[in-house]
Amino acid sequence: MDKTKITWYGHAAIGIQTAGFRLLVDPYLNDNPKSAARAEDVEADYILISHGHGDHIGDAVSIAKRCNAKIIANTEVARWLGKQGVETHGQSLGGGFRYPFGYLKLVYALHGASLPDGSYGGVAAGFVLTVENNQKIYIAGDTGLFGDMRLIGEEGICLALLPIGDNYTMGPADALRAVKLLQPQQVIPIHYDTFDFIRQDPIAWASQVESETAARVHVLKPGDSFSL
Ligand code: NI
Ligand code: MN
Repeated sequence: MDKTKITWYGHAAIGIQTAGFRLLVDPYLNDNPKSAARAEDVEADYILISHGHGDHIGDAVSIAKRCNAKIIANTEVARWLGKQGVETHGQSLGGGFRYPFGYLKLVYALHGASLPDGSYGGVAAGFVLTVENNQKIYIAGDTGLFGDMRLIGEEGICLALLPIGDNYTMGPADALRAVKLLQPQQVIPIHYDTFDFIRQDPIAWASQVESETAARVHVLKPGDSFSL
């Protein structure tokens, strides 16, 4: 059985290879000045969209059409994307579904969710993805700190991908508190350095997290991969 492989493309764009499937999360690639990949060059069987903002929907439609990939999002975002001629699967927060690649649950994110044209985008989401070996990956999406991260942590999180950029999401101090609530085994910081407003020092954050919690932090460069 192959290990689950995580690739960070920059910002909140993540590739996940698991159980022979290729997932893409929030594929904001061609408009991201720091992106490690072009939308034309990535492959996907499923695309997960955490919320309706442009830096998360990104190139989802063009990739879905070229790869014949199914897009998974909350029902409002899924309906909006479905009108653009792609296949979608809508879920609501708190609801999980067993896909061929694993069990995916949408969870709360403390964030806005309007769509690029101003349409109502429902509630922003994070994901808890359960892959082979019952390993759970928490992808927080764009979120501020919220106390119910403790409930997510009770599920036993193997890997948490957390925003640390500040301004639009948690900054380093609250992301450290998030690690304390979630108690994941491993952490990858995301959603920083893309724009001037969210410049951070992930190395300093990593050493603080590792000194104050039991989590191991993996600071990736855009394009780097990590195997569970
Ligand atoms: Ni956002
Ligand atoms: Mn964002």
